[in-house]
Amino acid sequence: MLDIAINPDQPAEEFYAELASSAAALVDGEPDGIANMANIAALIWQYVPRLNWAGFYRLVDGELVLGPFQGKTACIRIAMGAGVCGTAAVTGQVQRVADVHAFPGHIACDADSRSELVVPVVKNGKVIAVLDLDSPLPDRFAQADEAGLVRLIERIANNLG
Ligand code: SME
Repeated sequence: MLDIAINPDQPAEEFYAELASSAAALVDGEPDGIANMANIAALIWQYVPRLNWAGFYRLVDGELVLGPFQGKTACIRIAMGAGVCGTAAVTGQVQRVADVHAFPGHIACDADSRSELVVPVVKNGKVIAVLDLDSPLPDRFAQADEAGLVRLIERIANNLG
């Protein structure tokens, strides 16, 4: 396995640049999207602090289906447009939610979750999955987290499906 060492205490931009480089190295040359999602979920879980869930939902036959993740067991199927993940998938827009209780239709897989960041995975112009991060802390995700994770996903999207 790759020897990865990322310093989580550096400025967010540098931290996410290192995380994205590690992600790119992990998926390099590997065409199996599910295997790659599994390693990316594990990488994010290991290095991004203050999360209680990190993983993917894949777009399968018109709905989101639970993919590789780290954290507690989760809802398996989410309709397009439902909850934070379904909204990200249907709009193709990142959803950065400071207070999940204030998000209409939020799906509470884990009652501990207080804030959430969902990044669409776009391949060949289509949303093929979403990356979902949950935190037990309110307003956990800053603009810098969003920007860093968007860049990470853009960099590896071709190897995720
Ligand atoms: N909270 C999400 C559902 C997925 S779980 O958080 C893992 C949502 O509202 O889409």
